[in-house]
Amino acid sequence: MPDDHLSHVAVTLAGARPAHPLSGTVRIPGDKSCSHRALMLGSLAVGRTEIDGLLEGEDVLATAAALRALGAGVERLGERRWRVDGVGIGGFGAPEDLLDLGNSGTAARLLLGILATHDLTAFVTGDASLRSRPMRRVIDPLSLFGARFVTREGGRLPLAVTGARDPVPQTYRLPVPSAQVKSAVLLAGLNTPGETSVIEPQITRDHTERMLGHFGARVRVAPHPDGGKLITVVGQPELVAAPIRVPGDPSSAAFPLVAALLVPGSEVTLTGVGINPSRTGLLDCLAEMGADITRFDERVEGGEPVADLKVRAGALKGADIPPGRAPTMIDEYPILAMAAACAQGRTVMRGLAELRVKESDRLSGIAAGLAACGAKVSIEGDDLIVDGTGKPPAGGVTIESRLDHRIAMAFLVLGLATAAPVAIDDARTIASSFPDFVSLMNRLGAAFDGADHVAATG
Ligand code: S3P
Repeated sequence: MPDDHLSHVAVTLAGARPAHPLSGTVRIPGDKSCSHRALMLGSLAVGRTEIDGLLEGEDVLATAAALRALGAGVERLGERRWRVDGVGIGGFGAPEDLLDLGNSGTAARLLLGILATHDLTAFVTGDASLRSRPMRRVIDPLSLFGARFVTREGGRLPLAVTGARDPVPQTYRLPVPSAQVKSAVLLAGLNTPGETSVIEPQITRDHTERMLGHFGARVRVAPHPDGGKLITVVGQPELVAAPIRVPGDPSSAAFPLVAALLVPGSEVTLTGVGINPSRTGLLDCLAEMGADITRFDERVEGGEPVADLKVRAGALKGADIPPGRAPTMIDEYPILAMAAACAQGRTVMRGLAELRVKESDRLSGIAAGLAACGAKVSIEGDDLIVDGTGKPPAGGVTIESRLDHRIAMAFLVLGLATAAPVAIDDARTIASSFPDFVSLMNRLGAAFDGADHVAATG
């Protein structure tokens, strides 16, 4: 799972313009955020939780392995079906070995939240990407509860955490719009007497709050007088095992969705896609750009709204994307930038500072990759500006994926529209969030394959 034991195998992959339009109906794999949370909350509940639709990507498997090492019973029953035997809040034991969370920032930060109020010491690490990502954003609030951390320089992994024996509840105002930080604090609050609150000035994905309620925790969400929300969890509840159905991941759906927009004549249906309003910023942007996307059969599954989406190819125009929308589509900027590069006119994506601290520095990765493909692109401060000509850029390059699954998939999708193919140097990273990406896209008509023929390196 971590990069190291796979590093001797290079898996290059390319996408070229398909001979025919993309078409068909596909089910989108389970939501990564909800899958992590289902396993974690199931592990903290009393009793047996059955999960249907779990994403079986490497990030989620890393969470499953860590929870097992902490004492929960986590077992695969069949395709996408998992069973978790919980230990109850406060019931984890000290793991015997390092917890290796691979590429997953969500796994690392949410688990640190849980561990911060367990009376044990654990050692946490990840792959080269995760070891380079900032952990201070969770260490600072979790230290307020009484947890202690020893980290590598700069607050990076590997780190050791010793959870607080007598945790002190907190009210914490998020300094960055991050659902991971919010969730870490709320999860720390679970094993803390009294009430723990988070003030979020900008709304971020709310799967933790929803799922805590689903497991019987008392969670209050209220508007905050300064704007945004005040989220409060009442500590030391008994979480009761509850069945979970994981919705399809809108962040994964984004790739076949934009592919269908960019390949002329395409018409594709994506089923069971999560449409939680804290995740649908991309759909709003694409609608403003003129995309033909219809939602139908809207329903609620396992406490989350889902719908089927029908997408038809068509011309797109540039748009001005406000910074306030970023938390609702933070993982979708790579693929939105690909759409912008094929649109007519200027697209400005504002307020993207957080993109610099994702699995890679996505702001520079998108800009460098698009420039290598022949697009006109620039970064001004934290804004990304793409000037589209109404035609896809030339392509014909190999993009470095830098252990970043979304960069890899975004450029592969762009290659379905460019005149010359686009390749990525290492496709293995895609398995962290979308292990079926290639087969699902090829079922729609994409024909991704090995790419020895793409020469120039971007
Ligand atoms: C996630 C939150 C986001 C997102 C990540 C998943 C989550 O990160 O980028 O892929 O599951 O809470 P931030 O909350 O740090 O922005």
